[in-house]
Amino acid sequence: MKLLSQRLILMNRVFHSLLLLAISQIVHTSHIREICEKRDIFFEPFRCQLRDPDVLDEPVTYLLYDVNPSEGFNLRRDVYIRMAVFVKYLRTQRGYRRARLVLPPWSNLVHWRSSNIDQTQLLWSHFFDLRSMRLYTDVLDMDEFFNAYTRLHGSDVPVMLDEVYKLKHFENMFENGVFVDKFEEHVCPKSQDTLAVAFFGYANFSAQDFTCLHFQGSAMLLHRLLDTYRRPAIGAARHVRYVLVLNAEIVLHDLWGNVDYWAARRSMRFTGELVEVAARFRSEFLNSSDRPDRTVRLARWTDERPQRGGARGGDYLCAHIRRADFLYGRDKTTPTVQSAALQIRAKLLELGLKTVFVASDCTRMEFYNLKNYLKRFRVVRFVPESYEQRYELKDGGIAIVDQIVCSHARYFIGTYESTFTYRIYEEREILGFPKDLTFNTFCKSEKDANCEKNTVWPIVYH
Ligand SMILES: *[C@@H]1O[C@H](CO)[C@@H](O)[C@H](O)[C@H]1NC(C)=O
Ligand SMILES: *[C@@H]1O[C@H](CO)[C@@H](O)[C@H](O)[C@H]1NC(C)=O
Repeated sequence: MKLLSQRLILMNRVFHSLLLLAISQIVHTSHIREICEKRDIFFEPFRCQLRDPDVLDEPVTYLLYDVNPSEGFNLRRDVYIRMAVFVKYLRTQRGYRRARLVLPPWSNLVHWRSSNIDQTQLLWSHFFDLRSMRLYTDVLDMDEFFNAYTRLHGSDVPVMLDEVYKLKHFENMFENGVFVDKFEEHVCPKSQDTLAVAFFGYANFSAQDFTCLHFQGSAMLLHRLLDTYRRPAIGAARHVRYVLVLNAEIVLHDLWGNVDYWAARRSMRFTGELVEVAARFRSEFLNSSDRPDRTVRLARWTDERPQRGGARGGDYLCAHIRRADFLYGRDKTTPTVQSAALQIRAKLLELGLKTVFVASDCTRMEFYNLKNYLKRFRVVRFVPESYEQRYELKDGGIAIVDQIVCSHARYFIGTYESTFTYRIYEEREILGFPKDLTFNTFCKSEKDANCEKNTVWPIVYH
C-alpha cells in the first residue's frame, strides 16, 4: 500500500513536471491562458487540452535581451514594451509559436544612488507583477529562465547561448534621405570581440556565436534577423534556441502608443507590496484612498475598459521635478527651484488645493528651498520609514512609490522630456483621469506659459 502510494506520488510528480514543462511553452495566447492556468491543465486535462499539437514540433526560442548600461529604469520599461509586443506577434508565426521573452535583471542603474544597499541583478518580480505581465505574453524572470535551463540541461552547467547579436546604429541613418529598415554585419570592435563577456553580470553565460550588427528598424525586423541566422536542425530536431540581443534600445517601436503598446503597458502592474506601501503613505499623509478618489482597479488589467473622466484623485497636486543631470544636459528647459515653486503655487491656488506631493531627485538643499517658496502650503515627499524599508524597496522601489502616489493625485505636472514623467502620464491614463489634469509640463520660466510641452499620447483600447 505504502509502496503503491509512493509510486503514485512519483508518477504524479513526473507526469506533472513533464506536463508543466511542455505546456508552459505552449499556452500561447492570453485568451487560452485566462481559461487554463498551468495547474488547470493538470487537473482538468480535457477542458484545457491543446488545440494545436503541431506547435509541439516547433523549437522553443528563448529570446534574451539587454540594454545599454547607461539607460535608466523608465526607458528600459519602454524597451521592454517593444520586445513584448514583438514576442506576442512572433508567437503567431510558424516556427516561433513557443518563443518566450527572458527579462534582463536590473543592476546598479545610474539613478540608483544609494551605495549602501545591494542593487545588483534585481529581478523584475521585485518591482512588477509577473502574473499580470504574463497575461500579455510569455515572459520569464531570470531565475525562472535558470530553472528552465537547469531542467533541460542539468544543474551546474553554464548557460550556452546559441547566438548573440550586438546592435549598433548605422553611421548614416538616412542614406539618400530615406530611412529604410535594414541590418548589416560588421566586424566587432576589438574591445567587444569576446565570447566570454559577463552577460547581465553573470559569470556563467557563454556564447557560440557573437555577431555585431548595424541595425535600424522596428522590433519586427528582429523577425527577419531570427530567420536569417536560423541554423538548420542538426540530426534530431533542435528543440531549443537561445538568442540574446544586446543594445535592444536600438530597436524601435513598430507604432508607439498604439493598441498593442497600451495592452503591454497596462499589463505592467507594480507588485502588491509597492502598491501597498504607496497606499499607506497616501492614506496617512494625503488623506487619499481609492474609493473616494475613484481610482479602484479591477483585479486584472484584461478586464479594464476605457474610463476617461472617471478618476478624481486625492486632494493634492503632484509635481515631478527632475533635477540632477537635467540641470546640465537640459538647462534650457529645466526650471529653477524658484520657478518650479511659482508654477506649483499658481496651480494650487487655481485648483483650491493646499498640498503638493513632490517626486524629485533634488538635493536636500533644493527641497528645503522649494518648501521655503511654498510656505503657505503643505509640501510632502516620500521617504522610507527606516533603513530596513529602504533596503527592502531599493531605490527603484522608492521611485515607483513616488510614481504611484503621483498617479493618484488630482493634478499632475511633470518635467519636459523625462521618461519618469511619461510613465506617470501613462499610469494616470490607465486610471482614467481627464487629460488636462494629467498631461502637464513645467516651463523653464513661470512667465512663459507657452513653452514647449510634452507630447500627449492618450490611451487606446481594443
Ligand atoms: C548562473 O549563476 C547564477 C548566479 O550565480 C545562478 O543563480 C544560476 O542558477 C546559474 N545558472 C545556471 C543555469 O547555472
Ligand atoms: C479626507 O477625505 C475624506 C473623503 O474624501 C473627506 O470627507 C474628509 O473631509 C477629508 N479629511 C480631511 C482632514 O481633509
